Amino acid sequence: MRNKYLIVIVICIVALILIGNENNIISRLTFQQTPQVTVSAPVWLEVDETDSQQLSGSDVTKFTETSEKDKGSQKHILILTSTRTGSSFVGEFFNQHGSNMFYLFEPLWHLERKLSVVNASANSTATYRDVLQSLFLCDFDLLERFISPSPKEHVTSALFRRESSMALCEENVCSPVVKDVFEKYRCKNRNCGPLNLTLASQACQSKEHRAIKTVRVGRLETLQPLVEDPRMNIKLIHLVRDPRAVLASRMVAFHYKYQNWKNHALKGEVPVEEVKRLQGNCMKIRMSAELGLGRPNWLMNRYMLVRYEDIARYPMQKAAEMYTFAGIPFSNQARVWILKNTQASQKVSGDVYSTQKNSSEHVEKWRFTIPFKLAQVVQNVCGPTMKLFGYRFVDSEQTLLNKSISLLEERDFHLS
Ligand SMILES: *[C@@H]1O[C@H](CO)[C@@H](O)[C@H](O)[C@H]1NC(C)=O
Ligand SMILES: *[C@@H]1O[C@H](CO)[C@@H](O)[C@H](O)[C@H]1NC(C)=O
Ligand SMILES: *[C@@H]1O[C@H](CO)[C@@H](O)[C@H](O)[C@H]1NC(C)=O
Ligand SMILES: *[C@@H]1O[C@H](CO)[C@@H](O)[C@H](O)[C@H]1NC(C)=O
Ligand SMILES: *[C@@H]1O[C@H](CO)[C@@H](O)[C@H](O)[C@H]1NC(C)=O
Repeated sequence: MRNKYLIVIVICIVALILIGNENNIISRLTFQQTPQVTVSAPVWLEVDETDSQQLSGSDVTKFTETSEKDKGSQKHILILTSTRTGSSFVGEFFNQHGSNMFYLFEPLWHLERKLSVVNASANSTATYRDVLQSLFLCDFDLLERFISPSPKEHVTSALFRRESSMALCEENVCSPVVKDVFEKYRCKNRNCGPLNLTLASQACQSKEHRAIKTVRVGRLETLQPLVEDPRMNIKLIHLVRDPRAVLASRMVAFHYKYQNWKNHALKGEVPVEEVKRLQGNCMKIRMSAELGLGRPNWLMNRYMLVRYEDIARYPMQKAAEMYTFAGIPFSNQARVWILKNTQASQKVSGDVYSTQKNSSEHVEKWRFTIPFKLAQVVQNVCGPTMKLFGYRFVDSEQTLLNKSISLLEERDFHLS
């Protein structure tokens, strides 16, 4: 009699440990095992994901503590940022998670184009949020209204950067290439015909986690209804970068739009409109960050601020932190990708969205491309934002160009 009970109890314990191994313990363990893998010796590279984890007694205890907190395992990750902040790179951290992730790269691109063509003065805040909401629920109908040319029978060859989503390039979403259709997609691993959004929706539903990267959400508070939607388990990752570096990078990437800044640098003409816009953008970013860091109830455990500079310096550690925050396992596949793409020697690439770069070197490059005068303008209008994020001011060209002077204060924003 007694033995029977014992056997049942033992089976239960073994089952619990196995479930834990499947879920969130992997990310915690690997985080402890590989705290700052920015250089060589990737031991775990050789090991298969399933047998690379060795549980010790204390780890099992830790699991039982944390599993209480994370009840719903499905997660909806929204990466919020602005352009030229390294967000394609950070988006990849999640895109590369593996077969259980549905990732979308800038779906709101379609809205920005269409809304500004149709009605420049329209208040798009609510529309942006509604589209994000429906996409997190795997419903593409609302987005379809903004795709141009309009999809026919829910099929389109115009989805912005479909190939940036691994899930949209999987075999079951990849319809055969139609010869007489001019546009076709070249996914990285295969050629696909136009995208059937019904299949995309089905793929989305089959994945446990969903992630969207967007540079097109303004103020954080506009997302409150989305965050509070009971059908979802939203985690917001707010990615920021030194505004001086952002301006320098935008001047290179979008050189037409930034011609007025260049004139300022060359001829001293102050681009009044552009300076105003910069000031407005910096203020928006700061107010969102202040709201998030102030931890209002509706954002409790749902907001994480990350500096691009920290990601570039400690990609593996920061990725592990983001995964832990998101509450999903940091997969071996994602780690392999990060390692490969942070160490690889500089690749020449014309793609302005390129994610392949030597990240620790890349992060300081702007100091040698931005004229000191422009750095000063940014400091003048973005001062409070820079202070909040710990970006040091430069008072002379010598300081700007002297790489042994760090412009980054050590900060840890991630409370929780
Ligand atoms: C444009 O948007 C504004 C503000 O939402 C609205 O009042 C106006 O009627 C819209 N115009 C058109 C042509 O849709
Ligand atoms: C736009 O809409 C949001 C949310 O509906 C609202 O809070 C905001 O005040 C509106 N802005 C303008 C300029 O109408
Ligand atoms: C898109 O996929 C769905 C689901 O498999 C299918 O029923 C539909 O016929 C497809 N649409 C087109 C236009 O092929
Ligand atoms: C990446 O850049 C850093 C900083 O300049 C340099 O020390 C390192 O050797 C570079 N790594 C590769 C693989 O190019
Ligand atoms: C750069 O800064 C360091 C530390 O402040 C200083 O010792 C060094 O002289 C500076 N180098 C130049 C070229 O100004």
